[in-house]
Amino acid sequence: MSAEIKVKRQSSRKRSRDSLRSHLTPVKKITNASGRQCPDNTGQIELPRAMDESMDAKFSEYCSDTEDFFGGYDSIVGDSSFLAKLDRVEQNMRQHDIDHATSRCPVVLLCDKPDFTSLKSSTDNCPKQSCDDSMTESILEGLTDDAFIDVPSSQLAFLQDLQTADRNCCTDEDKTSTPMRHPEKSVSTEDRNERHIAPKAKKSVSDHLKRAMMANAAAPSSFSRTAVQKEAVVTEEINVAMQAMESVSMETTDLGPFFGLPTKVKELICNLKGIKDLYEWQKTCLNLDSVQQRRNLIYSLPTSGGKTLVAEILIVKELLCRKRDALFILPYISLVQEKVRGLASFGLELDFMVEEYAGSKGRFPPVKRRGKRSLYIATIEKAHSLVNSLIEAKRLDNVGLVVVDELHMLGDGSRGAIIEMTLAKVLYISKSTQIIGMSATLGNVQDIQKFLKADNYTNDFRPVELKEYVKLKDSIYEVDPKEEECFRFSRLLNFKYSSAMQKVDQDHIVALVTEVIPSQSCLVFCPTKKNCENVAGMICKYLKEDFIQHKQAEKAVLLGELRSSGNGSLCPVLKKTVPYGLAYHHSGLTSEERKLVEEAYSAGVLCLLTCTSTLAAGINLPARRVILRSPYVAADFLKRSQYKQMVGRAGRAGIDTHGESILILQDKDKVLVKKLVCAPMEICKSNLMLNNGKGVLSLILSIIGLNITNSLEQVRDFMSGTLLSVQVKQVCLERSLWEVTQECVELLKEKGLVTVSTEPQGGTLQVTKLGRATYKGSVDLTYCDVLYRDLSKGLESLMLNSFLHLVYLVTPYDMVSQCKPDWMVYFRQFTMLSAVEQKMCAAVGVPESFVARKAAGQNVKKNVDQVVVSRLYLALVLLSLLKESDLWSVADRFQLSRGFIQTLLSSSSVFCSCVLHFSEELEEFWPFKALLTELTRRLTYCVQAELIPLMEVAGVMEGRAKQLYNAGYKTLAHLANADPNVLAKTVENLFKKQANQIVASAKMLLNEKADALQEEMDDLLMMPLNLLSL
Ligand SMILES: Nc1ncnc2c1ncn2[C@@H]1O[C@H](COP(=O)(O)OP(=O)(O)OP(=O)(O)O)[C@@H](O)[C@H]1O
Ligand SMILES: [Mg+2]
Repeated sequence: MSAEIKVKRQSSRKRSRDSLRSHLTPVKKITNASGRQCPDNTGQIELPRAMDESMDAKFSEYCSDTEDFFGGYDSIVGDSSFLAKLDRVEQNMRQHDIDHATSRCPVVLLCDKPDFTSLKSSTDNCPKQSCDDSMTESILEGLTDDAFIDVPSSQLAFLQDLQTADRNCCTDEDKTSTPMRHPEKSVSTEDRNERHIAPKAKKSVSDHLKRAMMANAAAPSSFSRTAVQKEAVVTEEINVAMQAMESVSMETTDLGPFFGLPTKVKELICNLKGIKDLYEWQKTCLNLDSVQQRRNLIYSLPTSGGKTLVAEILIVKELLCRKRDALFILPYISLVQEKVRGLASFGLELDFMVEEYAGSKGRFPPVKRRGKRSLYIATIEKAHSLVNSLIEAKRLDNVGLVVVDELHMLGDGSRGAIIEMTLAKVLYISKSTQIIGMSATLGNVQDIQKFLKADNYTNDFRPVELKEYVKLKDSIYEVDPKEEECFRFSRLLNFKYSSAMQKVDQDHIVALVTEVIPSQSCLVFCPTKKNCENVAGMICKYLKEDFIQHKQAEKAVLLGELRSSGNGSLCPVLKKTVPYGLAYHHSGLTSEERKLVEEAYSAGVLCLLTCTSTLAAGINLPARRVILRSPYVAADFLKRSQYKQMVGRAGRAGIDTHGESILILQDKDKVLVKKLVCAPMEICKSNLMLNNGKGVLSLILSIIGLNITNSLEQVRDFMSGTLLSVQVKQVCLERSLWEVTQECVELLKEKGLVTVSTEPQGGTLQVTKLGRATYKGSVDLTYCDVLYRDLSKGLESLMLNSFLHLVYLVTPYDMVSQCKPDWMVYFRQFTMLSAVEQKMCAAVGVPESFVARKAAGQNVKKNVDQVVVSRLYLALVLLSLLKESDLWSVADRFQLSRGFIQTLLSSSSVFCSCVLHFSEELEEFWPFKALLTELTRRLTYCVQAELIPLMEVAGVMEGRAKQLYNAGYKTLAHLANADPNVLAKTVENLFKKQANQIVASAKMLLNEKADALQEEMDDLLMMPLNLLSL
């Protein structure tokens, strides 16, 4: 009876809608006289901007209740609308029949189009490029206007196929029967009857229900009991049918011949990625028992082995076949953006959402989608926040698959600890969620297997053979671990240096690089950022003039783009090196410059990059030859994993027969280098105990806060499912996990973050308000006290006629140590502040007299807190940025690299959002809510307001946004409805492939926003449950 009432309520509550459409954007295409589709202000859809969630690398473990439009959503099926679910059941049934009618095909991608993974210049590669475009076009053409009216045309074809199959099936008794996968399960007669209902009959029930709901929607305000009762009966019937069908479809996951997916998926892989056939290992991996039976899996292969594609196929399978959401965790924002751009077209074609969780993007908890499944692509930190928010909303079960790229990063400092926390929570809460990790080869994969209860698949496949060399003086040796000395003499380096040149280039870098460039590509890894710039400059000095002639026009274009990305400023080093086809690449460049440099290198316009080790992590920029300038990163000797990652960039699949790496070494490093190149693989250790157990503390705080555990025993139980527990003997040395747990809980109590409620049955662990604020705001436990103190003090005398005070409060504590104030600059900036601002500076602890003395080079006896002084300095940088938003001039004024300033800005926007969430949990900080909401927005998009909507599209940065805006693409709707051909022609230096990706990402974002608004609208219009009637 209670179930019946529940059904009745739910069905009457949910309003009817023109509902099963997934694309909600009305077509607003305006054609100008020339026939060209042109953006116009008419017909723009005014979309509220996503609320200012702002998360990033360091501060991101927060979740926001405020962004959940659907907190009280009470759908009949927790994860999607009833109608959508109903249709899904029907489709499942039809699909099930088709699966049986479809014979399995061999797993070969039948595309005979050329491979597009090769890296060549756009001009060199004209036929290839145009072919690439035409293929991409063929996919995306169908995604223009029609796609917004209803499902994509291609999807329509797919559905039509299904219907045809369905019809065919209906004419053939044998084929239509729905086999029972679990004959042993007892099934009621009604269930069996339901399963045999012909689709048409079922459709009429569905239609009936839709009609009933329409009527409900149309009814003014009265509440008809009879209507509801009738509806309840129908709903009950449907519900039973649905459950019965679900029990069958749970196992019925095959949708087609391509690893259980429709052939369309393999066509998309061919057309969008240029991959015609899978590597053997990829096929083997996809057919593993672990995959078929959905066990957790770790697969480890060398760099460039093609791990991602396997993950992507598994993700699509989860979304399409199992109809569950998927979470894809990648280590860097740039990688997340690249993936979002790359998979948006798949999402549009296959009808799933691709949602970006990186930087300031992503909602917590995510919007509940009605008919569609979502793929969340997230950075490590954002993924943790996402999982927390899903746990809080009791929706983690909706995520059927979690894929972690670079799983070995578990052993990588505090970020590793965050991966561990995320996975431990998934393992503990949602047993049905499958976890798949891609990893470099590890020495202790068994530990991670034990932690994840996972199978392991390893293969040493590399598409291109790698030859490793070292260079000592003028001799080159091949690395061969089998040799006694580890190295085998290979050849003498051929070079003719003048004595002057010998002095400048002692390591013969010029000789090494000119063996490959300009016709082939080369990466030179350098130990420091400054060294990258110097080496690039030095090489150019000795290159022949011929190098300038190579791809001159394209290089001029690149310089133009770099200049416009810097609002007219151009880096003097790049200005000198780019004409030779060289550039440097490190975190001192702005993200926009980095992207331009990467694209130009990929296209063959640049033939050599000097870079720091960061380039090796994640970005797919292979080279014919990789040179390691020295076996150091800054002052530290290379780790085996860093070395492997760098040399792994050598060899371009489809172009090179082999790749080669050359490590330049000096006599003094010979022994260490031997160990480096021949050592066994590194092991991966839990980082929860890092920095005095900071990870364990924050993990315990959040599991208590999220109500996952509320007794010491439960905490221990949870902790026994961590990697730390597997490695407790190595990591905790003398202490047991139980002792560590107890100590941490005590410490949290001492810090006032956790308390024990006094209940008769025994104490229950609870978080305090400060504890809740800390974990909700993802505030580092080290800083939660000081943040509380600073905010309290701030409230006493908040200075609001300038941004300075607020900006100071959200300047990240952990950036302080990364910058030493230049006292002269400090003083000059200080004197330019208004009297009120100066007063505020004195109030926080930095009087003018102190800065003046420092600038004059005098000793200051006064006891001034250095952290406060440095933090205020960074706040002055941020204030300048907010005032004029020109990165270059601010960098110039403060004598800091523009890359650092950009990082400061993004970290501050993230921290601002963390402080906002922190304050929201503490009543006394209510005034901060409005103030910090606006400040987060300003810090997140420190650009002209009109560019913001365009910059929301994955990978569109300020420079590109300006170009698009000036070309008439002023809103998201303009971009989403743009014709990629026209876009590529109108916007200077925009390749067709990039235009396709921008349009696909914009479409995806627009769909996502429209869908969320539709959800909100439906929620608003829903009839209240307890409405009185006569
Ligand atoms: N079957 C295939 N045929 C041709 N190219 C492929 C195939 N599979 C993957 N690739 C291409 O190989 C390149 C490297 O693949 P991927 O980035 O997945 O490597 P990875 O194993 O993840 O390496 P890393 O450890 O560097 O991240 C990509 O450009 C990808 O498109
Ligand atoms: Mg990879």
